[in-house]
Amino acid sequence: MSAARTTPPGALGAFANEPVLELRRAPVRDSLLGALAALDARLPLEVPVLIGDERGRSSGIDSTDPGAPERLVAVAGAAGAAEVAAAVAAATSAFPAWAALPAGERAATLARAADLLRARRLELAALVVREAAKPWPEADADVCEAIDFLEYYARGALRLDAGPELLQLAGEHNTLRYAPRGVVAVIPPWNFPLAIPTGMVAAGLATGNAVILKPAEQSPACALALVEALRGAGVPADALALLPGEGDAGAALVRDPGVQTIAFTGSMAVGLEIVRAAADTPPAQPHVKRVIAEMGGKNCVIVDADADLDDAVPAIVASAFTYAGQKCSAASRVLVHEAIADPLLERLRGAVELLVVGQAEAFATQVPPVIERAAQERVGRYAERAAAEGRIVARAAELPEPGWFCAPTVATDLPADSPVLGEEIFGPLLAVERVASVEAACDVVDALPYALTGGLFARNPRTVEAVARRSPVGNLYVNRAITGAMVGRQPFGGNRRSGIGFKAGGPDYLLQFVDAHVVCEDTLRHGLVI
Ligand SMILES: NC(=O)c1ccc[n+]([C@@H]2O[C@H](COP(=O)([O-])OP(=O)(O)OC[C@H]3O[C@@H](n4cnc5c(N)ncnc54)[C@H](O)[C@@H]3O)[C@@H](O)[C@H]2O)c1
Repeated sequence: MSAARTTPPGALGAFANEPVLELRRAPVRDSLLGALAALDARLPLEVPVLIGDERGRSSGIDSTDPGAPERLVAVAGAAGAAEVAAAVAAATSAFPAWAALPAGERAATLARAADLLRARRLELAALVVREAAKPWPEADADVCEAIDFLEYYARGALRLDAGPELLQLAGEHNTLRYAPRGVVAVIPPWNFPLAIPTGMVAAGLATGNAVILKPAEQSPACALALVEALRGAGVPADALALLPGEGDAGAALVRDPGVQTIAFTGSMAVGLEIVRAAADTPPAQPHVKRVIAEMGGKNCVIVDADADLDDAVPAIVASAFTYAGQKCSAASRVLVHEAIADPLLERLRGAVELLVVGQAEAFATQVPPVIERAAQERVGRYAERAAAEGRIVARAAELPEPGWFCAPTVATDLPADSPVLGEEIFGPLLAVERVASVEAACDVVDALPYALTGGLFARNPRTVEAVARRSPVGNLYVNRAITGAMVGRQPFGGNRRSGIGFKAGGPDYLLQFVDAHVVCEDTLRHGLVI
């Protein structure tokens, strides 16, 4: 455990991913269960609206445990129009001082926040288990990824501050400086309840912007933990507001003329709505808003005839069913060469029927409940449709009670125009289709408006090269599972309607939070000034 590691200001070494816990060790598992018991004794947590030093209301939104819906994990304030306006005003006034700090001081503040998350990592993993029903390995990885984002963007902001080298000719001096844009509205989803808000907030703050965080209504307590860490590390209260609320609070933030940048991660429908709303330029708004939108996916795994099924089957099962298929990168369709389709289906059936469906807190669980009743009903509707239009190959039989559980399901023989094949389901339902060739599979992928992640199982290097060149997706994984992107190693984000903007956890991401200012000075003498 690395809780004791501390980062002195100005001493950021090379970036390295935060090591995950070794859950196979009994003492580690015991310490996590201890943290969960301690957390349970404190529930429900209170999540107030936080604007500057004001603690606003903490009622209106109930955050419940998806595995035991009667357990209240947190009660949060429901920010409305007045709170949105107050938060924008506070952030606007805090912005100049935060922006004026040396980049090194802001970076050191982010690194201290990472230390504070490290010190609380067991408790935070327990909170992710309770609030989002993430099983322990994914909950721990969520905390590690949050730490990674703080550390990575702290270093990235230092590099950005140094500015790029420009060509200099005799008699002129050219400089390019990156400056923060102003107020950033951060609107995350619930499925990485700590990591995704941390990434977007850290990017905004590291580059000198003031930030307003409107967390997902399903996971406000994780967002509060992030705000506590950043404020505890030294981010001024006015420079980071917490506005728990529903979608209407997000929509009000998006429309506010005092917001310069919107960092959103969530569904395609909401992302596109934000892009449209943010395009408005009312007279009181001197700037054009910038939108960074990471959106949904319909992620396909292509399996060629020469694929090694010993590799492919466990990787496909992990990609489709870990966290009940609720990662944006999760596999949703398999396009398998007809020559190998029957053995693949047979082996997927065996593997899926053995999946352990259970509560997130049980270490053996592979498939936890989905986030809420509406999600359970949505997945159920798609599963019924799959049964009516095609054939169910596998379905885990027993479902625990209580909780929003969905049976992990594999369907096949669906018509090409089935919504099961075209729409993001965001649950444990995988469709398998036969294709005549890898090229035919690529045609299917190419016809989709989504282009987030994809996978390929193939042994021929030429096939790998051809698919890599042709695939429109943002992140393609070859001969491995298609989830689990690591900060700094696999910068993450989609293309087409899956995302606009540079990849999170990559070298370009921070550029979206700044404006470039170029100064060209004529340095020739113009005569003697007396
Ligand atoms: N591309 C990625 O990196 C990535 C990562 C994680 C999740 N996702 C996607 O997120 C989705 C699941 O998350 P979700 O259910 O929280 O998504 P969602 O779009 O329903 O909500 C996301 C956020 O937007 C807010 N919101 C809702 N309506 C709004 C509006 N009109 N204006 C402004 N804000 C509004 C919500 O309150 C929430 O905070 C999936 O589609 C998944 O693929 C994408």
